[in-house]
Amino acid sequence: MKWWQKKSVYQVYPKSFLDTTGKGTGDLRGVIQKLDYIQSLGVGAIWLTPFYPSPMVDNGYDISNYTEIDPRFGTMADFEELVKEAAARGIKIVVDLVFNHSSDKNQWFLESKSGKTNEKADWYIWRDEKTNWRSIFGGSAWEFCEERGQYYLHTFAKEQPDLNWENPKVRQALYDAANFWLDKGAGGFRIDAIVYIKKPKEFVDGEPDSDGMSSIHNMTAATDGILDFLREFKEKVFDGRDIFTVAEANGVQPKNLSEWVGKNGVFDMLFEFSHVNIMFENGAEIWHRAKLYKLSDWKKTLTESQKSTKNSWYPIYFENHDRPRPVNTFFPSGSDKILAAKALATILFTLRGTPFIYQGEELGFENTKFDSIDDYDDISSRGNYDLARADGLSDKQAMKFVQKFSRDNARTPMQWNSEKNAGFTSGKSWLPVHEDFKVCNVENQEKNPDSVLNFYRKLSKLRNSSEVLISGEYEEFFPENEELFIFTRTLNGKKFMTLVNFTTHEVNLPEKILAGGKKIAGNYSDEKNYFRATEAAIYEF
Ligand code: GLC
Repeated sequence: MKWWQKKSVYQVYPKSFLDTTGKGTGDLRGVIQKLDYIQSLGVGAIWLTPFYPSPMVDNGYDISNYTEIDPRFGTMADFEELVKEAAARGIKIVVDLVFNHSSDKNQWFLESKSGKTNEKADWYIWRDEKTNWRSIFGGSAWEFCEERGQYYLHTFAKEQPDLNWENPKVRQALYDAANFWLDKGAGGFRIDAIVYIKKPKEFVDGEPDSDGMSSIHNMTAATDGILDFLREFKEKVFDGRDIFTVAEANGVQPKNLSEWVGKNGVFDMLFEFSHVNIMFENGAEIWHRAKLYKLSDWKKTLTESQKSTKNSWYPIYFENHDRPRPVNTFFPSGSDKILAAKALATILFTLRGTPFIYQGEELGFENTKFDSIDDYDDISSRGNYDLARADGLSDKQAMKFVQKFSRDNARTPMQWNSEKNAGFTSGKSWLPVHEDFKVCNVENQEKNPDSVLNFYRKLSKLRNSSEVLISGEYEEFFPENEELFIFTRTLNGKKFMTLVNFTTHEVNLPEKILAGGKKIAGNYSDEKNYFRATEAAIYEF
């Protein structure tokens, strides 16, 4: 077992974590200050989302220099101190590699767009003609550049031009940047949007949608040949290092995971999206087209991922900086949110794989709600709103979907205490703090032995100290059941069973299922022979 299989990972979105200067946005020194808190969750690594120089069109996922720190987040000395202080607590710092695209303010792009013959002329994807592809954040995926007299491709915002991975010099420059961070002491990488780096041979129009465009995700995700690039990436950067890699891969199906991860794959783990995007057709996140789904279908995605990573490894996650808060997403409305947060934690720490905790998840954060689209910072919220309006929805209807799915739901500041701005900043917070901060905050939850926070700590400890929960085999029971999720983990005759009631009513348990078992954790303290609303428990056999 490797170090990153034995502990959890905590994801920090530095902009919303802790501001130590009063400017209204968080910084690296804020992360240093809270290392003891993070350590208390039993984690072995912190995944930091981008802190590199950036115009912040997409909050740092538009990088203008791959090997520096944005002054808003601090200095290189702060980064080095963070690595050192974290190491003193047994924690490694994992950095985010955004290699599908850069910022349009990156020196590489400025040079590339200046003409057709400069040294970096084909570092990006330039064409005389455009296709009907719609970018992930809305609008055409092609932007005309007057200076060069051609279109360039952008999978995401127009300020995020796609790099041309076919060019070996581009690949080498990216590998050099990755190695730079390893030399600085990074303990691994989260690799952004990797499924889009290989473009199809032919650039042709796709099946048009209601707005006459076709989702670029459907046209380019996981194109044949992508694994050749990735094998080279592995050889030039990851091989022989004691690090872990986890790649973001919307569009890779659970059944194909074995080609991507493990011994014959390229990464240690892959964030596939089948369980978090179950409401979207083909994973294309068009919010107002979200469909209802059955619990059995959701459970099936998790079971398939567990099965296809049987001989490799899986990053268990329900939240990150791109997802709405799961207590509002995966439980029926009317569910008690504290019970729901603990129920998800019960699954998070008992599936097979490394649990990824996203800041605020360990407090049971809920979605936020702004009334006007102008109040949203998240660029994808605006794209989705426009698309909904173009599809004929009223402002009110479109806003309902923005409120439900906006990435700003995950980006409201951490709630440290019940003082001004929840203790996040002494200045004006870049995004409003959630209105529940006086009740839901770290200080309050520290004091309450029954809080979500202390439940996370308890389960994390249980998982980190149990061979069965770390490496035991996964098996699902009653997959067709539309109310309960039941699975076991077994190793050398020892067994744990997780049971979660996803409804808001009492549910009878399958007969004798708990015979011989002893309850060791749960979100209700006592036991009945049926499961109450949103009840979750772990039994040991
Ligand atoms: C990934 C990131 C997301 C970003 C996008 C473009 O999905 O997680 O935040 O907007 O890639 O880089």
